[in-house]
Amino acid sequence: MSTAQMGNGTLGAPLVELTNLVKRYHGRAILDGISAKFGQGEITAMIGPSGGGKSTLLRSLNGLNTIDGGEVRVGEYRFTPGKTCDRETLQAVRRMVGMVFQDFQLFPHLTALGNVMEAPVQVAGKSRAEAETRGRELLKRVGLGERTGHYPSQLSGGQKQRVAIARALAMEPRVLLCDEITSALDPELKHEVLDVLEDLRDDGLTILMVTHEIGFARRAANRVVVLAEGKIVEEGPPQQVIDAPITERTQRFLKNVLG
Ligand SMILES: Nc1ncnc2c1ncn2[C@@H]1O[C@H](COP(=O)(O)OP(=O)(O)OP(=O)(O)O)[C@@H](O)[C@H]1O
Ligand SMILES: [Mg+2]
Repeated sequence: MSTAQMGNGTLGAPLVELTNLVKRYHGRAILDGISAKFGQGEITAMIGPSGGGKSTLLRSLNGLNTIDGGEVRVGEYRFTPGKTCDRETLQAVRRMVGMVFQDFQLFPHLTALGNVMEAPVQVAGKSRAEAETRGRELLKRVGLGERTGHYPSQLSGGQKQRVAIARALAMEPRVLLCDEITSALDPELKHEVLDVLEDLRDDGLTILMVTHEIGFARRAANRVVVLAEGKIVEEGPPQQVIDAPITERTQRFLKNVLG
């Protein structure tokens, strides 16, 4: 099923829900009682100071972190503390939730197409022919139809990041987590990556992006969440949170970032 097909009817319904989420490292609460809902077909931009817990929150959503309190729900799957998630559930959640990182993490010895085909063949057990057809479609979708045979070393940063997005999409996720995926890119290349995200959102994908791109958050995000010191200090539409922030913490953060 394509993301476009599932977009209709349930747009905005919370696909991911956090209830009083707590995550501790060495006894310190890094996430300190986070409750939030992320609607289907929406881009949520998560902003906030370094060390505030943004990456930890993303990692909690696909089982890369265990949690110490509260609950994470992704679709029909739930993570709670103390309960070791069975392998099947973890695999199902990881298929449902794709992730893209700042440093791409592409396999250097595989072409763009090889990177995109890898998980469908190795993890999902698809035939190479099927994975190749789909892989070519996805690379075309992110504007790289002409670069399928290129190795990562032969691609620009923006192109590598778009391969990484296509690779995540190859597992047909319903949620895409993006951790500062444009931070390493030149301004011009950021746009081509962000345009792809907007396009995917319009097709019904739920996108949660940690970003320092305040401009993009204002332009494309449906909602902005400000995370500082392990708590959500403000959330709402970008016009409110970015242009007219209510809390002192958000005001201070934006002043530091925007100068
Ligand atoms: N595996 C870990 N073990 C111990 N502490 C950790 C671990 N991962 C993260 N932390 C701590 O949790 C806090 C939040 O880290 P996190 O990476 O989530 O912040 P962030 O908001 O993503 O910051 P940045 O904007 O710099 O990426 C930091 O104080 C960090 O040192
Ligand atoms: Mg981070």
